[in-house]
Amino acid sequence: MKKHKVFIACDTTSVNKIKTIIKYTQNDKLIIGYKFGLEFLNSKNGRKYISKLKNIITFGDYKFSDIPNTCSSAIRAIKDLNFNYLTIHISSGLETLKAAKKVSGNSKLIGVTILTSIDDKSLKEIGFNRSIKNIVYRQAKLAKKANLDGIVCSVNEVKYIRKIFKKEIITPGIRFDNKIHDQKRVSTPKRALQNGSDWLVMGRSITKGNIKKNIQKLLNHLK
Ligand code: C5P
Repeated sequence: MKKHKVFIACDTTSVNKIKTIIKYTQNDKLIIGYKFGLEFLNSKNGRKYISKLKNIITFGDYKFSDIPNTCSSAIRAIKDLNFNYLTIHISSGLETLKAAKKVSGNSKLIGVTILTSIDDKSLKEIGFNRSIKNIVYRQAKLAKKANLDGIVCSVNEVKYIRKIFKKEIITPGIRFDNKIHDQKRVSTPKRALQNGSDWLVMGRSITKGNIKKNIQKLLNHLK
């Protein structure tokens, strides 16, 4: 049976909590990677801890968004951490994406489209008048043009952009039920895979409560 791929979002400042997450999510039925976001990356011990990690798939979810020189310099500055995956906001523009891709080395550079916590109403508030689907489609085209290695979007857009984007598609906003917290564009793990997601990103629905039981719940759900 094909092993499904899941990034566990390690959203905490506690190294001990991360150790617990890694310990209880080890599983031979899934391919698991660990995603470190702004919370852990900016914490006092975060960088040091990540620099010591070996033999696990690591994802530095920096969501870089800046001018070309700043983004490429920042990527150079974290080179020693050897992340397998790194993120950059596609809304930073084609020039920034190209500059970042040039220096990303062995790390896969993943473009973030419209955040899964955004719906059409909040998009209008920021001043965008196109639909989310349309913007994500355009962003996927830009990602392709900049030769990025993958994109992050919600499950709602996967089928639509798959037509033009053949590399890795990574989807957060994954939920088993209606406990959606701050997310807006959500989906179940099963629907994400049916729609063609390569990687699921799962945070709170795995890391809150009993982690082992949550992983088992995911495996049962995917049967
Ligand atoms: O806890 P939850 O499953 O909602 O965690 C989702 C994770 O994915 C968080 O770490 C969040 O930063 C990240 N993410 C997201 N939406 C994006 C990109 C990343 O939720 N578009």
